[in-house]
Amino acid sequence: MAERRHTVACMPGDGIGPEVVAEARKAVDAAAARFGFAIDWVDYDLGADRYLRTGEVLPDTVLKELGEADAILFGAIGRPDVPPGVLERGLLLKLRFELDLYINLRPVRLYPGVAPALAGKGPDDIDMLVIRENTEGPYVGAGGSAHRGTAAETATETSLNTRAGVERCIRYAAGRALEREGRLTMVHKTNVLTHSGDLWMRTAREVAEQTGVRLDYCHVDAACLYMVSDPGRFDVVVTDNLFGDILTDVGAAIAGGLGTAASANLNPGGRSGPGRALFEPVHGSAPDIAGTGRASPVAAVLSAGLMLDHLGERQAAAALEQAVMAVLPDAAGYSTQEIGSQIAVAVSREVPA
Ligand code: NAI
Ligand code: MG
Repeated sequence: MAERRHTVACMPGDGIGPEVVAEARKAVDAAAARFGFAIDWVDYDLGADRYLRTGEVLPDTVLKELGEADAILFGAIGRPDVPPGVLERGLLLKLRFELDLYINLRPVRLYPGVAPALAGKGPDDIDMLVIRENTEGPYVGAGGSAHRGTAAETATETSLNTRAGVERCIRYAAGRALEREGRLTMVHKTNVLTHSGDLWMRTAREVAEQTGVRLDYCHVDAACLYMVSDPGRFDVVVTDNLFGDILTDVGAAIAGGLGTAASANLNPGGRSGPGRALFEPVHGSAPDIAGTGRASPVAAVLSAGLMLDHLGERQAAAALEQAVMAVLPDAAGYSTQEIGSQIAVAVSREVPA
């Protein structure tokens, strides 16, 4: 029996979710066999089918179990026959809030051999880590509407920013930056959003002073422009929930598209252990290509790689990323399953140093 065991809750979800998660599991199981650890997979059928059958989105008992797993591997949710928001808010956002997964981590990396979306920009120019605050900002659901459907209709959506919430996010980002180039770019809109901007800016300056990280600042509109015109200026980026959501889609676009964009939702925890975490490809359930075998499993595999890193299986995580790099350049024309099998084979292979 393997010495190291990890319990992973697996939530494939809807559409292409189950298709890409199956391939990610193949890669993880291949890595486990090669590097001598075991994954105890626990399957959950949350998503559109269960909701339409039972009305349940995320029962409390399931939420509790998910919180106790070493990690959660998630595919995607959402289907045209379920009203928008029911699953996205009721499952994914709820998990982020209830499990206090306050870091959303998104590597933006252009892998060698992937056709660059930006002319003249290669893998050396596009390699950054975007850290998005994941539990505050305008996504908390604080707001309301009045006089709905009349000419006097109003709607508000309040952005929540707490000192504690902002600080823990920036501290985590500073830590990641110090493991890389030692520089951290904060992205906000401090010139217009002066209240929350001030809180973010002062907190970032204090954290920089205490940690020694080199702090840089960029307005979010300019950041979108630089992501396209000069992506090399970014290494580690930290930003609020809404800006991060948008900026990381730009990131996905410049780094090979949604098919390769991975993410982690983390509560980095304390000294007691690695903390709670959910790993998912950035893309959604892609109903337009579900069942056709055309979905790229790469984003799901790379997300599983982030998961292995979180579980302390560093060599296995690196093997998954290397396998993706080996397979990606020639992946065009192959099906989801074929690419997944090629990745699993590459993960299994001993690569001579
Ligand atoms: P989407 O990400 O599902 O698809 C956008 C486009 O990218 C589609 O043309 C799709 O075919 C393509 N695409 C996505 N993933 C791909 C992959 N792995 N390989 C190749 N092509 C891929 O976003 P969309 O269409 O806006 O949303 C579809 C459903 O997914 C909706 O119900 C939405 O709410 C939900 N959604 C769920 C997310 C999640 O579970 N985290 C995130 C985003 C959307
Ligand atoms: Mg998004």
